[in-house]
Amino acid sequence: MARLFNDEKLIVASHNKGKLVEIADLLTRFDVETIGADELGLPEPEETGETFIANAELKALASATTAGLPALADDSGLAVDALDGAPGIYSARWAQTANGRDFDFAMHKVEMALNRKPDALRTARFICALSLAWPDGHVESFEGKVDGTLVWPMRGKNGFGYDPVFLPEGGDLTFGEMQPAAKHAMSHRADAFEQLVGGCFADRIK
Ligand code: IMP
Repeated sequence: MARLFNDEKLIVASHNKGKLVEIADLLTRFDVETIGADELGLPEPEETGETFIANAELKALASATTAGLPALADDSGLAVDALDGAPGIYSARWAQTANGRDFDFAMHKVEMALNRKPDALRTARFICALSLAWPDGHVESFEGKVDGTLVWPMRGKNGFGYDPVFLPEGGDLTFGEMQPAAKHAMSHRADAFEQLVGGCFADRIK
């Protein structure tokens, strides 16, 4: 059984404002006060892990052990079957250009790699790892996913990252075309979050 979270305050070990707001929103119903890692001046460790969970764990542990409070961190990305799981944990890095991150560029890169394998399946999944760490070094981790296929050309302007090329299984709209609430109800992040709640916030479900 997962360790239950029984504090009032939780650090969100992310320096991304969008993620902080999203996680704070998801946790208000459990009476948890979230504090961003930035607010506490916590350093952002290098993501040296080889899996989504390893990266989420190292980020959560770095904050929890430095600040002496439980900390939650996530790591996510797109895994394409025909590319042996790439871009995977390097999803953000595939978007890196001399002028910053450019996801149109990253989506073109994925499409070009797929085109080099003409008979390749276009199946892919978004994966999200969430890790909750305590100052004593204990960690609970959960991995959520959503399966789909990659479309080309890109479709839709909603969402972020690789959303315009991701068609979830059984749907006709890409994540880029879907309304945010519809995406959030079925996303890899929602799946991971549900598992985290079932494991570590089970006694607070109202
Ligand atoms: P990180 O989890 O902040 O390291 O970033 C993971 C990268 O994966 C993001 O920059 C996006 O490119 C991609 N990614 C993760 N989740 C999603 C999603 O829901 N839609 C589109 N792209 C995503």
